[in-house]
Amino acid sequence: MQIKSLSPEETRAFGAKLAKETNRGDVYALTGSLGSGKTEFVRGFVSALSTDAPVCSPSFTIVNTYHTDSFTIHHFDFYRIKNPDELIEIGFHEYIHNDAVCFIEWADMFPEVIPDKARYIRFKEEKGNVRIISIDK
Ligand SMILES: Nc1ncnc2c1ncn2[C@@H]1O[C@H](COP(=O)(O)OP(=O)(O)OP(=O)(O)O)[C@@H](O)[C@H]1O
Ligand SMILES: [Mg+2]
Repeated sequence: MQIKSLSPEETRAFGAKLAKETNRGDVYALTGSLGSGKTEFVRGFVSALSTDAPVCSPSFTIVNTYHTDSFTIHHFDFYRIKNPDELIEIGFHEYIHNDAVCFIEWADMFPEVIPDKARYIRFKEEKGNVRIISIDK
């Protein structure tokens, strides 16, 4: 499925919509350049389920976790990771092989750690505020 977003609000609304068809254990692998809307999308997803957690980019922390009534959400960002060993150190595999929902920004940096069950969401920046968002399956 491919959608065209014309504003950050619209991208957040698409994220919120995905929350309705997400189940425990789902993993979303997000790809696309800087500023293409990955974090905005996750922000919309999380705020559809919880109002008490402002979503920040996990660039510096590698992972941010949100607890909602529906499920726990782990939001990863691989951008600043230099070596996949860092992921082993933080226990990445335990995070993704349980019933939490995971989002992984810059997933294509270490495709070897992305589980087969992951659904890819690709973000493409076009002129102005236009973003093309493609979701697997
Ligand atoms: N249609 C749109 N959808 C999403 N963001 C948009 C859109 N139009 C403009 N923007 C702007 O683009 C930026 C997207 O930032 P965001 O942090 O979501 O990107 P990102 O893909 O997570 O980047 P990074 O790789 O740096 O983490 C924001 O400043 C947002 O306001
Ligand atoms: Mg981001």
